[in-house]
Amino acid sequence: MATKTGEGFSSSFGAIMAAAGSAVGLGNIWRFPYICGKYGGGAFLLVYIFFVIFIGMILMMSEFVIGRRTGEDPMKAYPKLMHHRPGWKFVGLAGLITCFLILAIYLVISGWTLNYFWESLTGTLAGIADGDFGTHFNEFASSVWRPVIFLVLFLVFTTIVIIGGVEKGIERVSKLLMPILVVLLLVLCVRSLTLEGASAGVAYLFQPDFSKLTGEGILAALGQALFSLSVGMGVMIVYGSYLPVDDNILKTSVWITVCDFAIAILSGIAIFPAVFACGQDPTGGPGLVYQVLPMVFNSLGGIGRLFSIVFFLLLALAALTSAISLLEALTQWLSSEKVGRTASAILMSAAVVLLAVAASLSFGDGIWSGFKLGGMQLFDLLDKLTGTILPPVCALMTILFFGWFMKKDDIIDELSNHGTVKIGYFNVFYYFLARFVAPLALLIVLISGLIN
Ligand code: TRP
Repeated sequence: MATKTGEGFSSSFGAIMAAAGSAVGLGNIWRFPYICGKYGGGAFLLVYIFFVIFIGMILMMSEFVIGRRTGEDPMKAYPKLMHHRPGWKFVGLAGLITCFLILAIYLVISGWTLNYFWESLTGTLAGIADGDFGTHFNEFASSVWRPVIFLVLFLVFTTIVIIGGVEKGIERVSKLLMPILVVLLLVLCVRSLTLEGASAGVAYLFQPDFSKLTGEGILAALGQALFSLSVGMGVMIVYGSYLPVDDNILKTSVWITVCDFAIAILSGIAIFPAVFACGQDPTGGPGLVYQVLPMVFNSLGGIGRLFSIVFFLLLALAALTSAISLLEALTQWLSSEKVGRTASAILMSAAVVLLAVAASLSFGDGIWSGFKLGGMQLFDLLDKLTGTILPPVCALMTILFFGWFMKKDDIIDELSNHGTVKIGYFNVFYYFLARFVAPLALLIVLISGLIN
């Protein structure tokens, strides 16, 4: 609404659904459970909650403020708040480049998800023997055509929504999909919890084991908190620029954070009890969802096939609303450079698909797996960059800008909707959290993680 083009969300509810749609994605359902399992269950959870509240949510509010204040894309928003000093463009640029890289790898994994949805639907997965899921996954993900076809298909869906626009595309799709997602996930949770032996999975998820919580685990918790909330890279600046003028930024941010956290926990509850009930390895890593869950589904008999279809559909839908936000950030920037919205969306999709295909072909034993950058296959390099390194770096720049460079009066004016909303929390939020706690925590975790 604040934008020059008049594009924007029509209501606070729509805005919350769209931003929650961005936040809730593969990060919650695919990534959170295996990372949580890897770094000590309940112990990881405690650190994660700290980062979500004191860094993630603070950043989200900051980005909403920057976005709505300026009504601009991240590349223009920073300089605009700094008397048009062009140097600040680079903070926005760093975020956009990170979005581009995240979207590339996101497409690959979303493509896998679509394939698994398809294979559940057609019964292929149901016909695979228990011991063969690992091989099946590796053969599929390392092959040439199938993963590429599905990732392109997924990108086509994403691009269509973006071309539809902010209100008629993004808002409408998110308002429909987010509630469906919650219902599907709840159904899966109930099924999982009522399996025999489920309690071991619940214990695994919630019982703290501090011996597994290493420095690496703490950095992983931070990376996960940022990635999961979609903050630090400017995407929430973009959505902030579409926020209704009377939207209460604190309330909206709390809602999105709560939704995102709840969905991550529900995913853990849907997955771990089932994994334990079927005697599978909970530290299955990134393949947990693709290699372990199909086995769990098969062991449920006829109803398992239905659950398999529902689960992979849910994962694909969650991924869709997240991919939309990433492509929107890139599209909004390009379309502000005098290129039309449709052309921008198509051009950006065309650029990102090249990287995504290269990443797909370099995965596992793929035909480009021999090509190495810095000793790593392209897929692994992208995963590392977008999962652990770039998000904290971008987030640090954003919060330093917000806490130390942006005018305090602008922030007060924006948070209070020009004085119409009480912001009794401001001093704690600004002088304590945004200026000190969040940047220091980011800095400490980042440095210690890089040293390791
Ligand atoms: N938050 C999404 C997830 O959990 C991923 C995502 C979407 C994202 N947009 C983002 C991550 C922007 C970082 C920045 O899957």
